[in-house]
Amino acid sequence: MSDAARGVAYTVLAAVREDDAYVNLLLPRLMGEQNLDTRDAAFATELTHGTIRWQGTYDAIVGHLAQRDLDPAVRDVLRLGCHQLLAMRVPDHAAVSTSVALVKRVMGHKPAGFVNAILRRVAERDLTAWIDLVTAELTGDEALAVRYSHPAWVVGELRRSLLAVDASHELEELLAADNVAPKVTLVARPRLATVAELPGTPGLLSPWAVVLDGGDPGAVAAVREGRAAVQDEGSQLVVKALVDLPLEPPRDRWLDLCAGPGGKAALLGALAVERGARLVANEVQPHRAELVRQAMRALPEVEVTCHDGREGPWEPESFDRILIDAPCTGLGALRRRPEARWRRTPQDLASLAPLQQALLRRGVELVRPGGVVAYATCSPSPAETLEVIESVGRGVAVLERVERWWPHRDGTDAMFVALLRKR
Ligand SMILES: C[S@@+](CC[C@H](N)C(=O)[O-])C[C@H]1O[C@@H](n2cnc3c(N)ncnc32)[C@H](O)[C@@H]1O
Repeated sequence: MSDAARGVAYTVLAAVREDDAYVNLLLPRLMGEQNLDTRDAAFATELTHGTIRWQGTYDAIVGHLAQRDLDPAVRDVLRLGCHQLLAMRVPDHAAVSTSVALVKRVMGHKPAGFVNAILRRVAERDLTAWIDLVTAELTGDEALAVRYSHPAWVVGELRRSLLAVDASHELEELLAADNVAPKVTLVARPRLATVAELPGTPGLLSPWAVVLDGGDPGAVAAVREGRAAVQDEGSQLVVKALVDLPLEPPRDRWLDLCAGPGGKAALLGALAVERGARLVANEVQPHRAELVRQAMRALPEVEVTCHDGREGPWEPESFDRILIDAPCTGLGALRRRPEARWRRTPQDLASLAPLQQALLRRGVELVRPGGVVAYATCSPSPAETLEVIESVGRGVAVLERVERWWPHRDGTDAMFVALLRKR
């Protein structure tokens, strides 16, 4: 594989570290700029995603061998070397020599001998043997954190999440599922596209889902035209849960309070049109509201607005169905974005809770008696799910149903939805 592919992977790692870059945005751009051919692009993608996903484990291995603070650039080169040695079919000598060349290019000659020595030692064992060695003296969540390359606090949060459904014994399966990149799933927006016209295999859970066999979703005409889109099946099921709940009398004003970038709102909008309902899709951030408008390019019937959901100018009790897909930590969607698990902090949980509660309270205020509010997150964390629901007084709304989906059980992101009916 070319040095260009390894150079792209290094540049992404450095940008994630220095500029909080998003891998899914930066990597395709750099690969385009460097004109990587198909094989090099696949190599750069696996190297970048895999290295970032597994960096917790690789740091423990390097820490075992080096036992000293490392320059961040050297650490990135070592992580890349570890992934090639332990998880890709790159010959040892090639992984070591290209890593030495890379560190010389980005740092000069000084750390070259060190990188060479460490990676030669890494090459002496396979990944399983290394994990057994570096976790030998660890217990509990600390050991799982190294084995499955998650921050220990995330392991703890996922453990609490599973405990809430009496399934803490599934923790290792969930952590393992987070390390497998999901296949791309499409949604055929009702009335606009059919499952049959999309390339791939129909999804197992959502009636509108198609799992792509491979290839670029942007090359699918229905996706380009806004009649279909990339969307996890879990997100589709959240929308389904909201629209399937019967309403008496079945009136027709729907609101998506936190719609950006518009994936769920577009499915909701297509279903609204099918059922003779009207959807307002609201988003607080102007550039994300613009993304919602783009998502609605095949759905001119949907009204897109840009307000803080806590303060928007709607009349109390003026909607029949409301979706609150709250801003959350995204701890349920870690398999999708390799850097996400390293970027979040425990403080995010605490700081999001008041906003989540305020948005839910507003939703309950805006729905008419007998109407339904769906509160959803792509996080299974109790602090962002059940504890938020509990903040709404029982005298105000009844919790009718809770549904959850999990990567290790359902092949979806970990999604949560609670359906509240206003008294
Ligand atoms: C989880 S995302 C929604 C994803 C969206 N439903 C979809 O499926 O594409 C949460 C959104 O809420 C927005 N948000 C955050 N604070 C908000 C507020 N006070 N009012 C309305 N929207 C808000 C964020 O900008 C973000 O776009």
